[in-house]
Amino acid sequence: MKNQKNNNVAFIFLFALLLCSCGAKKENMQTLVNRQLDRSADQSLLMAQSLIDQPKSLPKTTDAEGKLKTTSSGDWVSGFLPGVLWYLYEYKHDTQLLNDAKNYTSRIEQEKNNRRTHDLGFMLYCSFGNGYRLTGDTVYRNILLTGAESLASRYNPRIGLIRSWDWNNRDRWQYPVIIDNMMNLELLFWASKTSGNPKYREIAISHADKTIANHFRPDYSSYHVVSYDTLTGLPEMKVTHQGYADESAWARGQAWALYGFTMVYRETKDPKYLKQAERIANFILHHPNLPADKIPYWDFNAPDIPNAKRDASAGAIIASALIELSGYVDKSLAKTYLDVSEIQLRSLSSPEYFAEKGTNGNFILKHSVGHLPGNSEVDVPLTYADYYYIESLLRYKNL
Ligand code: GLY
Repeated sequence: MKNQKNNNVAFIFLFALLLCSCGAKKENMQTLVNRQLDRSADQSLLMAQSLIDQPKSLPKTTDAEGKLKTTSSGDWVSGFLPGVLWYLYEYKHDTQLLNDAKNYTSRIEQEKNNRRTHDLGFMLYCSFGNGYRLTGDTVYRNILLTGAESLASRYNPRIGLIRSWDWNNRDRWQYPVIIDNMMNLELLFWASKTSGNPKYREIAISHADKTIANHFRPDYSSYHVVSYDTLTGLPEMKVTHQGYADESAWARGQAWALYGFTMVYRETKDPKYLKQAERIANFILHHPNLPADKIPYWDFNAPDIPNAKRDASAGAIIASALIELSGYVDKSLAKTYLDVSEIQLRSLSSPEYFAEKGTNGNFILKHSVGHLPGNSEVDVPLTYADYYYIESLLRYKNL
């Protein structure tokens, strides 16, 4: 009798365990990815509709009241909504998304002649670049080639890098180059492949090589800004303008570095860039301050961790880069990278980060940090977080 009772208790315990484990079963990633792309398309159509009567406006973030804040074509973030719309059109083949993608892309055309910014890769390649990839429209192609020439005009052969900012921060630096600039090289690689002119690719490779030489610390974290002496061509200063401290690891800077070197490896197949990307990934993935949900604090060395703000944009950029990088490495490393990107996509797709339809100024993700030391864009939606989130979902879908 006692035995029978024990058996019953054991049975009930096992049954309860089974129920719990079924309840906690993770949603299949392909289901999650498709649902999130559908929800993102609904939200992005609302965003596009909200600015349809303001033909010079592009979304940037939200204000203190949570209302949409817009910007103009010359802002480095101008190409991200058009890019989101192209990606979502690629997924859904929806005519309204196509019309909106064309509309918002056309708003940026004048920037092809802008020689005052290094951000032409972000602005033009996310918008016209995706548009050209999906439509083959030669008008887009010519705009991109003009833009690449404008970007190349900022290259100084004595220094071997493209200049990032023209403002000099009260004479603080002579020739600032920021880690973010790695992202703009993709437009140059594309321009050489498309035009047959090797100049753009040579500039990109020189920029990447000098960045490896001068931007990284021994642990493969990156400074944000390296300024060069214009006479000697050597680094004169290394600082972290948008991070916590000059010697700290600003999260989005590490994300740009990881994505940038993964992309340069794709374009060159030179193993030194793959090695660099792996080392950056190693720094990020094994950092003791990377939270369990794998969405970084805005700076890996923020003094108020674990209460520091998260940066969803850095999480989305890292996820996208890791998915691509997983295709270039051995099986076990690939699994590590994909496992982390999966956790990031699950986190960003949860109610903690993913906004309900019609809220959040019609941006897709919440909780990014633009420039905390400047007290600007802290814990807000940012249009580039949305872009790299959608890109990661599509990359994951296409694995
Ligand atoms: N490229 C500027 C930033 O990441 O904030």
